[in-house]
Amino acid sequence: MTYMIENICCIGAGYVGGPTMAVLAEKCPNIKVNVVDLDINRIKLWNSKNVNEIPIFEPGLAEIVSKIRDKNLFFSNNIEESIKEADLIFISVNTPTKIKGLGANYASDLKWIESSARQVAKFAIGHTIVVEKSTVPVRTAELIKTILNSSEDFNLNNKNKYKKTFSVISSPEFLAEGNAIKDLRNPDRVLIGGEDKDSIDKLCNIYENWIPKEKILVTNLWSSELSKLTANAFLAQRISSINSISAICEKTGAEIGEVSAAIGSDSRIGPKFLSSSPGFGGSCFKKDILNLVYLCRYYGLDVAAEYWENVIRINNWQKDRISKIIVDKFFGTITGKKIALFGFSFKANTNDTRESASIDIANNLIDNGAKLVIHDPRVSQKQIEFDLKQSPSIFDQFQESIWVYEEDIMKAVKLADAIVILTEWDYYRNLNWKLIIKGMRKPSWIFDTRGLISKETLKDLEINFWSLGNGCK
Ligand code: UDX
Ligand code: ADP
Repeated sequence: MTYMIENICCIGAGYVGGPTMAVLAEKCPNIKVNVVDLDINRIKLWNSKNVNEIPIFEPGLAEIVSKIRDKNLFFSNNIEESIKEADLIFISVNTPTKIKGLGANYASDLKWIESSARQVAKFAIGHTIVVEKSTVPVRTAELIKTILNSSEDFNLNNKNKYKKTFSVISSPEFLAEGNAIKDLRNPDRVLIGGEDKDSIDKLCNIYENWIPKEKILVTNLWSSELSKLTANAFLAQRISSINSISAICEKTGAEIGEVSAAIGSDSRIGPKFLSSSPGFGGSCFKKDILNLVYLCRYYGLDVAAEYWENVIRINNWQKDRISKIIVDKFFGTITGKKIALFGFSFKANTNDTRESASIDIANNLIDNGAKLVIHDPRVSQKQIEFDLKQSPSIFDQFQESIWVYEEDIMKAVKLADAIVILTEWDYYRNLNWKLIIKGMRKPSWIFDTRGLISKETLKDLEINFWSLGNGCK
């Protein structure tokens, strides 16, 4: 087969599908890219006249969308037509952890993958290359293949029956949110796993429009799927490792920033991913480790399962530990205290809150009776309401569990007893701390869980300061 790929469909217009297809379409002006989704509202937002209203905030994304939307990049709910037209289909749907049934709390729920595969089986015409893009448990390609191979031949004009054919390959996405456009334009590597050489070559040809050949790694299908889980597990493990050390620093007087810099300058360790934090969030790390744990248990590798599970244990411990420190600093009770939370997204430069440490820490503080004022430069009140599973309420002396949303940072901190910095937004680095502290109720505290402000910045100001991993009083 020598045809070139001219028409691509991506099923799923989320945090992975949207930015990935935007960059692919930008780099391949001769390919028509249709991004489709079941979610009517999400697609409406992708097609917003005002490009700043697209559903995903990602630096650089709005600019690409405004440049090429409706030229060779299209967003629609027209799944059937887009599949019919496509030579190649990316499956980029959500794969959250199962909440019930076999493998509950560990295995991924593949119902969205399965339903996309069924749509492809039903509507595809001729030969179609299907690429798994979503993070999936190892051997998901088998499930997709089984569904596709049981599709019925299509019937053109009620005359001739044509055989539908498919080849399934894996090409997991390694983009990190907040940095997605840079990662997609200049990835460390792209991975393609599969057996069908022709399909692999076609996908390579697409990537080669902007990615040097030597960065395109070809493996077997299962290596590709497992590599994605392993990469995320290793990254998460680094964060749990440094977070465990942050607790030791607080006890011993060592400073976590100095320890990170010292170990990171060993070229075998490297400087990246050594920032201590309130715990990793995001849709991938926890889910992928749980998948790995499930896989280990399935194959009877219990010690390996425990090893990876402990990465999550440390992550939960870090969130609980920080909540407890805040309560302890107020002599065991924060009932009625006004606490301003700075940052709700799971990291800076994204509006994504999935698995954000802010959710657990906010809930812990609310359970302890605090009145929270939540600020985030990009996360909406509606999203926070969804994550905390309770509506905001006006501060009221008769209510215990309450929170409000505040866009104005000066109002958020007015008469606050404490500020807890949870997300490393640049916006929080350059605040007028003198003015902020002046408006707080004394004795007041700043808890910095992201190493955002230095002791020197707050020198001579009337504030108690606790910074993660620093043992400062
Ligand atoms: C991650 C992987 O990096 C990416 O390759 C994969 O495709 C998806 O999962 P993402 O979750 O978007 O990407 O963000 P990432 O930058 O990896 O951060 C994940 C979490 O780790 C965030 O909560 C972040 O704050 C935290 N983190 C990161 C730290 O606590 N310390 C660090 O040094 C780095
Ligand atoms: P990710 O971070 O993996 O991109 P998201 O939840 O942001 O995950 O996006 C996944 C998208 O996939 C959602 O918008 C969801 O509506 C869409 N989706 C799930 N199943 C299907 C399907 N069968 N057909 C079309 N879109 C789907």
